[in-house]
This record gives sequence, structure tokens and C-alpha cells, in this order.
Amino acid sequence: MTEQVIEKIESMEKKREKEKHGKETIRSSVVLKIYRANKRAGEQPHYDSVEVPVQRWTTVLDALLHAKQYKDPSIGIRYSCRMASCGSCGMKINGIPRLACYTKVSELEGSTVTVEPLANFPHIRDLVTDFAQFFSHHHDVKPFVQNENADIKDKNKLSEFMQSPEDLDKFLQFSYCIKCGLCYSACPTVATDTKFPGPQALSQAYRYFIDNRDNATKDRINIVDDKHGIWRCHFAGSCSSVCPKGVDPALGIQLLRGHMLGFSKNEKKIADLQDRLRKDEEAKQ
Ligand code: SF4
Ligand code: FES
Repeated sequence: MTEQVIEKIESMEKKREKEKHGKETIRSSVVLKIYRANKRAGEQPHYDSVEVPVQRWTTVLDALLHAKQYKDPSIGIRYSCRMASCGSCGMKINGIPRLACYTKVSELEGSTVTVEPLANFPHIRDLVTDFAQFFSHHHDVKPFVQNENADIKDKNKLSEFMQSPEDLDKFLQFSYCIKCGLCYSACPTVATDTKFPGPQALSQAYRYFIDNRDNATKDRINIVDDKHGIWRCHFAGSCSSVCPKGVDPALGIQLLRGHMLGFSKNEKKIADLQDRLRKDEEAKQ
């Protein structure tokens, strides 16, 4: 009878804890099932299981660093900022691309956390993947403002490009991208075509295309209008669901397609016209 009462109190406690902390599950330890492989050293892929102590706020990265420090220093991981800013700790956690420093163990179900390298990236070692191709796609879309009227070389003649809050709103969310590659890893088209720029690069193409300070519109369209380009997106939407920064790459791709198909072809012209009118008004004052 006493045991039953204790069990009931414990389950009520757990329920209250759960209500208090949303989906969190409080555990004192967790088993990390870590993907290990090192082709160069001839090490075949396998999983190592390591039990590590955790607290409510322990992130998967904290747990991995604990395993590395106290159990096995040879575990290969990449990280830097530990605050979801640098984008270097991306990995598959329980099968989903996530940032290890931004995923608390208490948010995950079960007492085992499986960590694996990101899919769609060439593998280097353990949880570390090669980002060269991903960054090359990012580089190819020319992710910077291009405007021949900008006097950026002569510092004495610096120009000012006015931008209204509405102009800013058009690309703001896309500028939050930290190049973590989670969307690239989740994309089914990238999985079958490595020449496809992927959701990150395409949404950045839109970010600069719609920026009213940029006037390389045709060049930007030519870059993505390719048989391996923007038309290969199937709009699976998995990119947007894994983004840790609230970017919606699938939306960026659809908006850019809309411009290319002519659905929104006047939008940029209207913005340019408004800009010119505003400048004329300012000149008169
Ligand atoms: S769009 Fe999101 S998921 Fe993709 S690279 Fe940028 S921050 Fe990462
Ligand atoms: S360590 Fe920088 S994003 Fe995770």
C-alpha cells in the first residue's frame, strides 16, 4: 500500500514537472549512441554507447563534451560558439538534423540519444562532415550586395542607400541564416543531385535579389536558372522545418520562382520607382 502511495506521488510529481517545463523529461543520466568511423585509419562505421550524467539544462553538445573529456578523447566533433551562432555543431540527433548546442537532452524522448553525422555532406570522421561543397554553392550565388553606383572604393564619396522598414522586412528573416547546413542535410533533392545549390544557397539568392540596394537582378536569376538549379526544388519543405534560426528557405525559393515566372515581376520595379521618387523628394528639400 505504502509503495503504491509513493508511486502515485512520484507520478504526480513527474506530471507536475512535465507541465512546468513543457516537453522536458528530467533524467540524471543518458546513453549517447555515437556514430564512429574513420575511413583513413581503416575504422569501419559502428556505434559506441557512452553513459553520461545530465541535468535539465544539459545540451547534447555538453553531453558529448563530457563523454570526450571523461570517457573517450578520440570522439570527433566540431563546435565553436556553443550558443547557436556559428553553425558548426550540426549533426543528426535521433535522426533529425539539429544543432547539438541548441538541443537539450531533456527535450528528447527516451534514455538513449543517437548522434550521427549530417546526411548529404561528405563524411570526414565520427560526427564531422566536409562543408566545402555546401560553401561553394553559397559562394556561387554571390551572397553580397552588388551595385555599381556604390562608392565603396572611394571612402570620401560614400553613398547612402535608403531602405524603409518594409524594404528590410522583405529579406530580414533570410539574413538570420548562420550557414549551419541543417536545411541542406534535410533536403531530398540535394540527396539525389549534388549540383543542386540547396535551400540555403537558393534562399540567399532570394535574400540579395529582393534587397533594394542590389541591382544584379539578371545575373542572380541566370545563376539559379539552370537544369540543376531552382526548378529542381520539389517543395518538400523539410528545410524550413529543421532550421534553428527561424529562416524559411522553402518560402525564399518559392518567392524567387514567383519573380522568375513573372507572378511578381512588377514588385521590384515598383520598389525602384518608389526609391527614385523618395530620392527626388529628398533632393527638392
Ligand atoms: S537556412 Fe537555417 S538551416 Fe539552412 S543553413 Fe541557414 S540557418 Fe542553417
Ligand atoms: S557550437 Fe556554434 S552553433 Fe553550436
